[in-house]
Amino acid sequence: PRDAHCLADIPSEAILDNNIPLINNLTFPDGFLFGAATAAYQIEGAWNVDGKGPSIWDEFTHTHPEIITDHSTGDDACKSYYKYKEDVQAAKTMGLDSYRFSMSWPRIMPTGFPDNINQKGIDYYNNLINELVDNGIMPLVTMYHWDLPQNLQTYGGWLNESIVPLYVSYARVLFENFGDRVKWWLTFNEPQFVSLGYEFRVMAPGIFTNGTGPYIASTNVLKAHARAYHMYDEEFRESQKGKISIAPNIMWGLPVNVTSLDDWEATARYLLFYAGWFTDPIYGKDGDYPKVMRESIAENSKRQGFPKSRLPTFTEEEKNYIKGTADYFAFNAYTAFLVNKSNTENLTPSWAHDLAISAYEGSNWLISNTSSWESVAPISLRSIMNWITGRYGNKYELFITENGFADKGQLNDTKRITYLATYLTEVLKAIFIDEIKMKALTVWSLIDNFEWADGYTSKWGLYHVDFNDPERKRTPKASSHFMENVTSTRKVPK
Ligand code: NOJ
Repeated sequence: PRDAHCLADIPSEAILDNNIPLINNLTFPDGFLFGAATAAYQIEGAWNVDGKGPSIWDEFTHTHPEIITDHSTGDDACKSYYKYKEDVQAAKTMGLDSYRFSMSWPRIMPTGFPDNINQKGIDYYNNLINELVDNGIMPLVTMYHWDLPQNLQTYGGWLNESIVPLYVSYARVLFENFGDRVKWWLTFNEPQFVSLGYEFRVMAPGIFTNGTGPYIASTNVLKAHARAYHMYDEEFRESQKGKISIAPNIMWGLPVNVTSLDDWEATARYLLFYAGWFTDPIYGKDGDYPKVMRESIAENSKRQGFPKSRLPTFTEEEKNYIKGTADYFAFNAYTAFLVNKSNTENLTPSWAHDLAISAYEGSNWLISNTSSWESVAPISLRSIMNWITGRYGNKYELFITENGFADKGQLNDTKRITYLATYLTEVLKAIFIDEIKMKALTVWSLIDNFEWADGYTSKWGLYHVDFNDPERKRTPKASSHFMENVTSTRKVPK
């Protein structure tokens, strides 16, 4: 990415003042990809059509409507199962280089088991991929974006290690059927789903496991990821020549009180608990969970009367097997938590207690957003990119697999434009000032969709979707024209 420009091209006052207009004279390097993202459960609908099996999200929304703000479901969502060609046209109109979408495991394997493969599911994704390729848009496929086949949940879902070979069988079906055209893969979206689903109960399957589930599930997720990676490496890479990674959410941390050493330490610990939990085993030198997690969970578990640490251990062989299982560094990035040293002595065994932080919203430079836990902090993006290269070196290309802003769905979405402009500027700084190898920024989301526990109350799309219209009419928002401008000039518009 440094071919087109070097640091010397940037006027020094731009660097000294972080002067945005000057920084924004710079052009995104050739090969940098602009994209947008969605996920199967959030857009497809057709939840029980053409042989698809139920997922844990079908089950969760049907049996726990009270958890979803507007009591809605993804039964129909954006009806992208029928309207995928319009989605591809939206991406094309904006001049996007790539489209990230996920495949629904139960649409391809209705029970989660490999003895039952649903050809209509394969056909659907073939059609979508072909439509993208015909329109010159690169498909980036998330293999798992949280919609586990419900049948596998009856065996414990991610708490049961038997899921690992089943996930690998599913991955094999994807590589075999789509790998000729799909060259960029993500095994898991935001593996931190394990705490949302197995502790906080705001996501499927919505169970509380006394501080054990998130760690058992994360261990199985990492094993499944590593096995899928090695399988690709050994059996598919030579013929398909693709790349495979995982997309953790990296929510930056900032100390509440910048003069407090305790708060700085809490912030560093928070980052390792939240992001290092998945990035250390894969990109770190030990192939293991961060030391601070091991130590504090062991200590908490002992105090709580558990016979051993609630955090499972990896064997040396497993560590070596997990270490290095990514071809590029993918991550979702939205904002930052404000962190201070926790003063809670609450002993309930939980991931949140282990994390031992308190997060606050709002300060004079974090603009509050409509979604309950989101806020805007452009500086967090550049900080994350520097944290990654600082901790893991500069071997990997960095791929932002999600970044975006929520509002109420207005067409003249000026705040989203400001959000995207400031975050894209941080990417330019990372490229030209910090000399980080940046590959892509992917906006969440292509179209308004089902936002999990928020239902349809928070909107993230570059395109508006009319959920009262049986046809689910799509309408471009002002931000889609902004993206069009970005992709045609390869600059951040002033
Ligand atoms: C995280 C998830 O990957 C995606 O599914 C969600 O809709 C967005 N970020 C916004 O919360």
